[in-house]
Amino acid sequence: MKELTILIAGGRGMVGSAMVRRLQAEGYRHLLTPSREDLDLTDQHQVRAYLRHKQPDSVIIAAAKVGGIYANSTYTADFLYENLMIECNLIHESHRADIDRLLFLGSTCIYPKLAPQPIPEEALLTSALEPTNEGYALAKIAGVKLCTHYYKQYGRSYISAMPTNLYGPGDNYHPQNSHVIPALIRRMHEAKVKEADEVVIWGSGKPLRDFLYVDDLAEALLFLLEGYRESLHINVGSGEEISILELAKLVADVVGFQGEIVTDPSMPDGTPRKMADISRMTQLGWQPKTSLREGLKLSYNDFLGLGKK
Ligand SMILES: NC(=O)c1ccc[n+]([C@@H]2O[C@H](COP(=O)([O-])OP(=O)(O)OC[C@H]3O[C@@H](n4cnc5c(N)ncnc54)[C@H](OP(=O)(O)O)[C@@H]3O)[C@@H](O)[C@H]2O)c1
Repeated sequence: MKELTILIAGGRGMVGSAMVRRLQAEGYRHLLTPSREDLDLTDQHQVRAYLRHKQPDSVIIAAAKVGGIYANSTYTADFLYENLMIECNLIHESHRADIDRLLFLGSTCIYPKLAPQPIPEEALLTSALEPTNEGYALAKIAGVKLCTHYYKQYGRSYISAMPTNLYGPGDNYHPQNSHVIPALIRRMHEAKVKEADEVVIWGSGKPLRDFLYVDDLAEALLFLLEGYRESLHINVGSGEEISILELAKLVADVVGFQGEIVTDPSMPDGTPRKMADISRMTQLGWQPKTSLREGLKLSYNDFLGLGKK
């Protein structure tokens, strides 16, 4: 098993690099992590030639165009098109190259806006999506279904995992295009340095979310790659939820910002509650290990450049 060659598409991103760390720690030595310059995954010819030439035993799709509410609701066509192309190229060309094992990373954004909570895997396509990230969600749904149908039609071990919100080393701390945790870390840190009196957070602060430390996800993904053989996608989350306001307070505490936290209800909230039902994962024997406070401390160290890379 450890002699297998594994392509980690997006292997230099947050999830991909966590996956590389995990695989290396487990003794996997033949890892392929081409950069975008080496291999543009939206280009079918490049992907076909690369897979034929390298012939990996397994493919992990950790490449995608990702972003927060602002980026998702602004660059809607780009999110739909680029993600569709990446998935279609990697899944179809893996099949053509006779690669039998593939793990696709979706997201809990695939589920309907008003899905039952915690969200079971079966909630997929039962009602309308959250409009702010429709392009991203539609593309991810197509990726999930491609895996299911290559599994069913061709007997390929193409599986897909739906992680909840992730955070950790290698996160994107961009002021506009980042997810909630890296955005909060940056803003709380800047407010602390400037000795600001307050930090304003987008929306009402009421939405409930769950957050998983990325190294816990990587452990779950390896667990699935080695043993999960079902066509149904599977959720991976923390099993715990927290409001955005409570999260902001926790980040402020970890960072050491002592001013006030003010909500701005004029900005969009997104889905009111989003928590993945992880009972299928826990029944298989997987549990997350890192508490939110501990993960935030590690992330803040990473932001400061002190974390292990
Ligand atoms: N972050 C989360 O909270 C979260 C939550 C649920 C699911 N996920 C899923 O987890 C996966 C990884 O996310 P992440 O947070 O690790 O994102 P990330 O840090 O932005 O990494 C994505 C990687 O994909 C690469 N990539 C994007 N388009 C490419 C292209 N056309 N050709 C080659 N490489 C390309 C990026 O390369 P560049 O560096 O050159 O852009 C980057 O290395 C995605 O499928 C995402 O949907 C993430």
